[in-house]
Amino acid sequence: MDAHLTPAKKPKIDGKTKSPPTYRHEKIDKEGSTTITFTLKEKVGILASALNVLHSHNVNLHHIESRPARNNPDSFEFFVACDNTTGGLKQAIEDLRKFTENLTVLARNPDQSEGNDEIPWFPRRIKDLDRFANQILSYGSELDSDHPGFTDPVYRERRKEFADIAFHHKHGQEIPRIEYTPAERKTWATVFKSLVDLYPTHACRQFNHVFPLLIDNCGFREDNIPQLQDISDFLKDCTGFQLRPVAGLLSSRDFLAGLAFRVFHSTQYIRHGSKPMYTPEPDVCHELLGHVPLFADPAFAQFSQEIGLASLGSPDDYVKKLATLYWFTVEFGICRQEGELKAYGAGLLSSFGELEYCLSDKPEIRPFEPEKTCDQDYPITNFQPIYYVADSFEDAKIKLKHFAATIPRPFSVRYNPYTQSVEVINSKEQVINLTKDIKGKKTNVFLITQ
Ligand SMILES: [Fe+2]
Repeated sequence: MDAHLTPAKKPKIDGKTKSPPTYRHEKIDKEGSTTITFTLKEKVGILASALNVLHSHNVNLHHIESRPARNNPDSFEFFVACDNTTGGLKQAIEDLRKFTENLTVLARNPDQSEGNDEIPWFPRRIKDLDRFANQILSYGSELDSDHPGFTDPVYRERRKEFADIAFHHKHGQEIPRIEYTPAERKTWATVFKSLVDLYPTHACRQFNHVFPLLIDNCGFREDNIPQLQDISDFLKDCTGFQLRPVAGLLSSRDFLAGLAFRVFHSTQYIRHGSKPMYTPEPDVCHELLGHVPLFADPAFAQFSQEIGLASLGSPDDYVKKLATLYWFTVEFGICRQEGELKAYGAGLLSSFGELEYCLSDKPEIRPFEPEKTCDQDYPITNFQPIYYVADSFEDAKIKLKHFAATIPRPFSVRYNPYTQSVEVINSKEQVINLTKDIKGKKTNVFLITQ
């Protein structure tokens, strides 16, 4: 099973009554830096234990600060800037979660940090997405011990080549063309062949409309792995979506933020040849066969962008809800067309086994209702026991917009396609609603002004 989003983070819960002190970051732009915050109960040696976790994963520190926790005098909050290029930061973060509280991976912008500590940083311009390359939770060449390519030095070296391309990619640059090896093309062919015959009966109408265009325009063939740049150009012509290579796993917040700009972070490597029908992570088969065709559809593109826009500056617990909605739609969504169920989720359209299973009578089918769907737990290593059905992409988009309006943000955002930037709009009405939600408690509401 594969998908783009990392497991959900623990929600941040707080209701402040005054502005907290502003953290200062001495080396905010140091390349390869990821910042995390967490809370520890005051106890002798507890900080040393936390730092030891980072040390044991060979993660170096750029900077560390602490302050008394605002809601608990027996706890301290820590702010740690880690070097994410030297070790296993992803695993270190998972290990740290076991004995810390409120662990959050931050994306920060020095321009926004002062006075706005309540609102997570988010990109305003498409070029700001360049920052994400340094904030990946794991580098693409770091494979878990149960990965099919873990013991294959040639595969690991190849993965490093792909990760390096993505790590150094900047907005506006051409995505380098890859000369895929015969072994890689063989893997692609196996996956392509297994799926292509199922599409006419199992994929949604929009997918089957676009797929022949990808064959004609982007080299989608059994004997050829298409190039990201060609596909990106094609998508731009269709809906303004574009691809951007990614070196490893992004946080949910960063990944969803890309969608706000109609940018899809795509891997470029292919799964290990020993198991062509399995990948524990997104690969080029999943991206190109699963995701790409639908991003050429205007209604689906708009739906995807709405998820991204809703995530910008939203609290962590709502980013988690949006990531779950993304999971049950863009990754594993089913829709009803002419009375029949059809697949539109990329995790289905790139998996021979699950594409057949999802339309069988085995799984449970529920209507897509964002308020309920957003809290549904799901497995990430097995077929989904529950799928959610959308009546149409347009209908799903309207429902999503209603849901997004309930997110407690003291501003709204609007995408400007001419400048490829996000405009932040202060909304008095939303501020009033937010204040009411806090049940009359005196509070400071932070506004972002342009
Ligand atoms: Fe995906």
